[in-house]
Amino acid sequence: MAQLWGGRFTKETEQQVYDFNASIGFDRRLFHQDIEGSMAHVAMLAKQGILTGEERDAIRKGLEEIRRDVDGGSLEIGEQYEDIHSFVEAELTARIGEAGKKLHTGRSRNDQVALDMRLYTRQRVKDTEKLLAELLKVIFSTMVQNVGTYMPGFTHLQKAQPITLAHHYGAYFEMFRRDLQRLEDLYGRMNYCPLGAGALAGTTYPLDREYTAQLLGFQGPTLNSMDSVSDRDYLIEFLAALSMVMMHLSRFCEEIIIWNSDEYRFVEIDDAYSTGSSIMPQKKNPDIAELVRGKTGRVYGDLMGLLTMMKGLPLAYNKDMQEDKEAAFDAMDTTADCLALFTGMLRTLKFRKQRMEESARNGFTNATDAADYLVGKGVPFRDAHGIIGRLVLYCIEKNTSIDRLSLEELKGICDRFEEDFYEAVSLKSCVEKRLTTGAPGPAAMEEEIRACAGYLEGLDWDGMGLERFTWEERKKDQGGKEDE
Ligand code: ARG
Repeated sequence: MAQLWGGRFTKETEQQVYDFNASIGFDRRLFHQDIEGSMAHVAMLAKQGILTGEERDAIRKGLEEIRRDVDGGSLEIGEQYEDIHSFVEAELTARIGEAGKKLHTGRSRNDQVALDMRLYTRQRVKDTEKLLAELLKVIFSTMVQNVGTYMPGFTHLQKAQPITLAHHYGAYFEMFRRDLQRLEDLYGRMNYCPLGAGALAGTTYPLDREYTAQLLGFQGPTLNSMDSVSDRDYLIEFLAALSMVMMHLSRFCEEIIIWNSDEYRFVEIDDAYSTGSSIMPQKKNPDIAELVRGKTGRVYGDLMGLLTMMKGLPLAYNKDMQEDKEAAFDAMDTTADCLALFTGMLRTLKFRKQRMEESARNGFTNATDAADYLVGKGVPFRDAHGIIGRLVLYCIEKNTSIDRLSLEELKGICDRFEEDFYEAVSLKSCVEKRLTTGAPGPAAMEEEIRACAGYLEGLDWDGMGLERFTWEERKKDQGGKEDE
């Protein structure tokens, strides 16, 4: 009986197993890195006398042609191959014959995939650094132009004390600067070459690992071959750093969504970055900000998946590790898209400065300063706190604000109030008196802006292939200039 369907069943199962096992569907993305790694490998093999110069040249020519044909579209990376490494090797052997079979000398797919993934990730770290640098430039422009733009600062989403838009944006500058520094930091740690680790225990061929590492632009070879093939720490570090970027973007998005609401109307998102409703004609929705906030969970998920996949693995390589790719690619792509779109949205965001200032005037954001005023007149702070509390209550009943009360009304509550009170609690002086390092006062803000400019000036714009940062040019920048 079994034989009646056994053959067929076995075949189907085999196909399923094959499909389940294959990674070509997603590791095709590593094609260029696979070629690049193989080029360096054969150069080293020939230098060490393991391959002849002729064999090396034949292999290199074959690899170059495969690259040209795939890039040009005349050669397809077929689904019939198990993974990208098998594709390249099979194609090479089909083209150049015997010499092609020698490409894999002294190498295992374990160190090969470790190398490909590291080369790929290294580039994505650099790409993310660029996106962050662009975002920092936009944030900086808004800071420079809004040192005198007043707005309420919040705690518990309740109006607390007046700040400036420059100050608020400055907080995000700090977050994204730390994100960029985290990337630079992990780059330094990951930039070592695993090629030559073999399957797990090195090889018996006299490989020159320093040489391949150097050819591929690494700091040097990795130290331990077991670790080389089973280390995915750099991916986890990168995804953790990306999760942090997303968390920062998401917080910023949340604020923009609130500021863009009809209740706040602090900002207006550009039409190009908003969408409408199919039923409610009046709607202009902050979809991009919401999507970035939503996609944050997805990047966290990628990180969790990777951490969980790694937690039970004995040394050295295990097939589980093939699962690193889809999660890592997804986190890299998602964060890159979010950074690019968010930066565009921010660059075109319009501020309703009058409305922000009005909001800072109302809501008793000067209550602390009013209490401090009485302290200046010799009232103990605890008593001053109580007096201003009563004053606030009085204002709420009268539907007015502290600085709109007459001196008579003020004196009715406490006789220490004088004419100079109005100046002391004006929005301008509430902000300008805040001069401690890191505070929103103009002198402190100028210091902060100078430090931010110094940081941006120190970035390697040429190396990133980006337009260089200059402070002068930033002042002219359109970012955040618009008013209502
Ligand atoms: N596709 C595999 C991966 O991504 C390549 C390494 C295969 N190694 C092996 N021993 N089966 O991990």
